[in-house]
Amino acid sequence: MSSSSASTIQSVLVENRVFEPSAQAQQGARVSGMAAYQALCDEAAKDFDGFWARHAREHLNWTKPFSRTLDESNAPFYKWFDDGELNASANCLDRHIGTPVENKTAIVFEADDGTVTHVTYKELLSRVSRFANALKAQGIGKGDRVIVYMPMGVEGVVAMQACARIGATHSVVFGGFSAKALNERIIDAGAVAVITANYQLRGGKELPLKAIVDDGIALGGCTTLKTVLVYERTPSAWNKVEGRDKTFAEALQGQGDDCPPVAVGAEHPLFILYTSGSTGKPKGVQHATGGYLLWAKMTMEWTFDIRPEDVFWCTADIGWITGHTYVAYGPLAAGATQVVFEGIPTYPNAGRFWQMIEKHKVSIFYTAPTAIRSLIKAAESDEKVHPKNWDLSSLRILGSVGEPINPEAWMWYHRNIGHERCPIVDTFWQTETGGHVITPLPGATPLVPGSCTLPLPGIMAAIVDETGKDLPNGAGGMLVIKRPWPSMIRTIWNDPERFKKSYFPEEMGGTIYLAGDGAVRSEDRGYFRITGRIDDVLNVSGHRLGTMEIESALVAKTDLVAEAAVVGRPDDVTGEAVCAFVVLKRGRPTGEEAKQIANELRNWVAKEIGPIAKPKDIRFGDNLPKTRSGKIMRRLLRSIAKGEAITQDTSTLENPAILEQLAQTN
Ligand code: WT7
Repeated sequence: MSSSSASTIQSVLVENRVFEPSAQAQQGARVSGMAAYQALCDEAAKDFDGFWARHAREHLNWTKPFSRTLDESNAPFYKWFDDGELNASANCLDRHIGTPVENKTAIVFEADDGTVTHVTYKELLSRVSRFANALKAQGIGKGDRVIVYMPMGVEGVVAMQACARIGATHSVVFGGFSAKALNERIIDAGAVAVITANYQLRGGKELPLKAIVDDGIALGGCTTLKTVLVYERTPSAWNKVEGRDKTFAEALQGQGDDCPPVAVGAEHPLFILYTSGSTGKPKGVQHATGGYLLWAKMTMEWTFDIRPEDVFWCTADIGWITGHTYVAYGPLAAGATQVVFEGIPTYPNAGRFWQMIEKHKVSIFYTAPTAIRSLIKAAESDEKVHPKNWDLSSLRILGSVGEPINPEAWMWYHRNIGHERCPIVDTFWQTETGGHVITPLPGATPLVPGSCTLPLPGIMAAIVDETGKDLPNGAGGMLVIKRPWPSMIRTIWNDPERFKKSYFPEEMGGTIYLAGDGAVRSEDRGYFRITGRIDDVLNVSGHRLGTMEIESALVAKTDLVAEAAVVGRPDDVTGEAVCAFVVLKRGRPTGEEAKQIANELRNWVAKEIGPIAKPKDIRFGDNLPKTRSGKIMRRLLRSIAKGEAITQDTSTLENPAILEQLAQTN
């Protein structure tokens, strides 16, 4: 897979392989065959409200039934099932009590060191209820915001479900984010508590979490914060702040395991999840209880065709939306058995995923292209970690998420993991969409490698130009969704204006959802293929990063940096890589000095944002390419980052000589 950018683009353009669903995949599938898919689409088109109302009644338990399905009176602030009431945790746990599911394993937890624990639905309900009582005892209740900064594990899921149970709004922060990122999120959310662990275990290493929480709070401004609850994941010592910090054991002491779920309105914010946008400040994406949960459950059934005997494994961390919808909520709402994994795919070796699939008889496996690509590399260089060493015959369906999957990786996944038997669902969605929006259905959709194929029923996806006009198949444009859907983002926490501006452009009428991705539909089937972000957002290993965020972090190093511009460039394994062009106050460094400063800046970015944001390339210049009016010409920087010759028009450039200097690597 060398020189992938050119060859990948080439192979996508000529991609014409089609994989029809086998008779076996169609057999008994929830949506079996394209006619069944089409019938659902037709139903949604004919009676949009009726379609969603039917599903919301069938899939969820409402403590107070809704009478209104969709309220568009204040578009784009859409409301769904507005006068209905329910509880998300009750819909994931209590609903199974008294059914055969109650004694079924809800979570198979595999720790970093390979230790396995099983938790049944009944046990999970009791743990969630006890933890919910512990939260209440801390004075936490409906409407409060709680930060969850936890490792992957049962406790993280319990924390999220417990918040939902008492109507508190959780905001999970990925354990790889820095003290500063955590501080900003505590302040923006106005959080009253942080739930964390003393350490997290990843790849045999013990990494501090609680110490980062302390540092984050010490940065100041967390005026609403009262409590820090600490799960002692390891016996190692940590610093306890008396009066503020409590261990889980202390908080749970004396708490019973009966905690009636608090009914909330369907629009009550279930969670806020921060994600990167095109400015320096992350957006707090707010999701509503009813519509979100409906979609989490429905997509488990549609996209994954989940069945009682399945063992589902989504490898995403609960710190991302994928870990919310397809770990913390969807599988539980569907009554499925799922694997939750604490560690990393390469420890103790790069066969870990395949070994775990064999061990737990995983039947539905859902991961990211970046993981697949890195495991291909590992398998190609070391026979011992090649998937052929494990029995993968339990697999039934494979999934991909987070970034476009290149056809080479798709084919490898299909052959070496799916043994040419398992459909691959390439699920396109976003933090903002709450769940899948464009994806194949395993028992219906003919698959084309590299294409997320067709929208789910009721999702009115289209490709348009800047004015909102539909484009024909074959023409690249902007991906939009023309009608609201239940699990869509409700607003940006604390910033409704930014919500409108970011997602509902005036030029398109102000009510159409703009995804921020470019896409094209195939000439023959009308299949969607995502071509990548059209804003200043990068996708590195399936993680979303704003170029402006990284630029702000770099220029915050005021003793060193005068100016910085960040762009993405294609990368074989991570999809995109961060490339930073930096002007130093002291002039342009070369040789060893340049290497050393580049490293210093990388570590600085890791501290400001998190290790995932570290620039892979850092190039130094005396200046940046600018127009005469002082605007940085990023398209030129993108070409330089890729190592391309500059063929674009540079006549508006103030300082053309700078291009050659920036093209030199350190
Ligand atoms: C961005 C959203 C979806 C949950 C994880 C990421 C890219 C996501 C695909 C896919 C092509 C994809 C898009 C999107 N993306 N899935 N199957 N094919 N691109 O959520 O962090 O909100 O990122 O990820 O660019 O806009 P996120």
